[in-house]
Amino acid sequence: GGADGVVQEVLARRAHDDGALLPILHDIQDRLGFVPSAAVPEIAEALNLSRAEVHGVVTYYHHFRDQPAGRHVVQICRAEACQSMGADALMAHAELRLGCHSHATTADGEFTLEPVYCLGLCASAPALTLDGEVHARVTPKTFDALIEEARS
Ligand code: FES
Repeated sequence: GGADGVVQEVLARRAHDDGALLPILHDIQDRLGFVPSAAVPEIAEALNLSRAEVHGVVTYYHHFRDQPAGRHVVQICRAEACQSMGADALMAHAELRLGCHSHATTADGEFTLEPVYCLGLCASAPALTLDGEVHARVTPKTFDALIEEARS
């Protein structure tokens, strides 16, 4: 049962596929919301990789979390079109407003803030997602309104 059961189940199903590492990490994160660091040695052993290799892939892809996410997940686009429309300032505003850094979760567990790289809304930059829902042309003011709404 629990997280370890999920990891075992995913490994049992996928470990023998070619290029299994990424699909395994995706499956684990889909099921648990993150890839527990305790799973890294298990995955490494099942795939005949070193722990460092598995850990390297988890940290290389921004998509994977090694901690559970907060109740709400905010992903701010940091790709080119959004950058040119103030995504850096928006991220700085978000960090200040939420009181946590990018790739981190607020102390009360309410919000996780993450970068994301293009949401396909480049014509309406800057863009973000809140709990998977996309919002375009986000200003600091509309950001605050979204956060208030999510909090209530
Ligand atoms: Fe941000 Fe495409 S660059 S949505």
